[in-house]
Amino acid sequence: MKLSIIAALSVAAAALVMSKENEPKVTKIINCRILRDHKIVEKDAIWIQSGKIIDPHKFFWYQKRLPDVVLDAEGLIIAPGFIEAQINGAFGVDFSVPMDHDIYEKGLLKVNRGLLKYGTTSYCPTIVSSSSSVYHRVLPHLKLRAGSAETGATILGAHVEGPFINKARIGAHELKVLQASANDGYKNFKEVYGLEGETPEAQRKLSDKDLNCIKIITCAPELEGVMDTIPDLVKAGITVSVGHSMANISQAERAVENGATFITHLFNAMSQFHHRDPGVIGLLGSRLDLPRPYYGLICDGIHVHPNSVKIAYDSHPKGAILITDAMSAMGLPLGNYQLGNMSVTKEDDRVYIEGTETLAGSVITLDACVRNFIKFTHCSLVEALEAVTLHPATLLGIQDTKGVIKPGADADLVFLSDDLYVKRVFVAGEEVDLKSIDVEAVEKF
Ligand SMILES: *[C@@H]1O[C@H](CO)[C@@H](O)[C@H](O)[C@H]1NC(C)=O
Ligand SMILES: *[C@@H]1O[C@H](CO)[C@@H](O)[C@H](O)[C@H]1NC(C)=O
Repeated sequence: MKLSIIAALSVAAAALVMSKENEPKVTKIINCRILRDHKIVEKDAIWIQSGKIIDPHKFFWYQKRLPDVVLDAEGLIIAPGFIEAQINGAFGVDFSVPMDHDIYEKGLLKVNRGLLKYGTTSYCPTIVSSSSSVYHRVLPHLKLRAGSAETGATILGAHVEGPFINKARIGAHELKVLQASANDGYKNFKEVYGLEGETPEAQRKLSDKDLNCIKIITCAPELEGVMDTIPDLVKAGITVSVGHSMANISQAERAVENGATFITHLFNAMSQFHHRDPGVIGLLGSRLDLPRPYYGLICDGIHVHPNSVKIAYDSHPKGAILITDAMSAMGLPLGNYQLGNMSVTKEDDRVYIEGTETLAGSVITLDACVRNFIKFTHCSLVEALEAVTLHPATLLGIQDTKGVIKPGADADLVFLSDDLYVKRVFVAGEEVDLKSIDVEAVEKF
């Protein structure tokens, strides 16, 4: 009797310590500080299986298993992988420039891998206002595609910035490709981008079903026909953002009532704040029955003054989403480059059109935005990290799987030092070999 109890116990113990060979391996990350539920949690662990974060209690009690791998994080902070809603290119690659299929894919791979160095594990490649033929060529590359330690960051779908934007707030976009109105509503949008169409005409136009790959549309709600189309875009699963716009406060609020949930690069390329008509910026102070939108902040200290960053944060901290809005020289060493049609000079943290004082766009990295945000606003570590994780995930409706560390979420993780430099990165449960990421420079001249 006694013997059989001992035998039974030892069988149970053996079952507990030995992993079942046919089950996916389990990794436990220990000795870390975890961003979880709006807090930095110490003395806890992260459990990963099959690319997902799992609940250790269920795992331990029901499956009676111990982890296959225990990984010591040596006291680093662990945040969800960073998410970027607006980036035009990097490492010499410009998403808005069509290329032969294989060349475009090669550039995309370079960016997908390179962004991991800065903690970005998913993002929306951003396309400036373009002609239909450009959208039709580049957008099929940018549909949702899951990342991995080898292939790099997840593509969440494109952010199309324009062409339904106000020419009076054109920024660096090209005038001749702008659309002045959308009198046929959703149909106009489908035609321009080649969204998957329901109407026979739209279907005839589109040979590729995969054109349905847009995650965010930046538009100016004051253009004829745009305001009334916002609900249709939202219904199609697209996040609508107000930007490159001259909307007054009433128009901006109506856009939010219609379903707009984001403001594109707050302060840049929009109606400016006036006390009687605070314009798009005034959405930060909206009456309480109206949901206040999220807003993108270029946190390089150049495109938006640090004080403006602090004003935005102070008035609506839960809406902050840090973006780089970077151009293709981001991630390249200092020097002169031919990027598309532009000759540029990269100096420190700025890029100029060669021989001028004109800025060619931002070259900040997302991890640097996080450090700047704390410096500019004195916000907490949790708030700064949530501005590149939870907030963009919630904006994009993916907060069950991205931007959070909880059971069921994708195991996309960034390990950070106390001064918020990226030390280790996981994508879908696999550690990235950061040293192997070589984003070879484009031809210098
Ligand atoms: C905003 O513009 C609309 C259309 O021009 C106008 O009817 C409305 O009065 C304006 N609102 C404000 C607050 O200026
Ligand atoms: C870039 O240069 C090419 C060739 O000269 C030209 O066809 C194209 O329109 C230019 N693109 C832009 C954005 O200026």
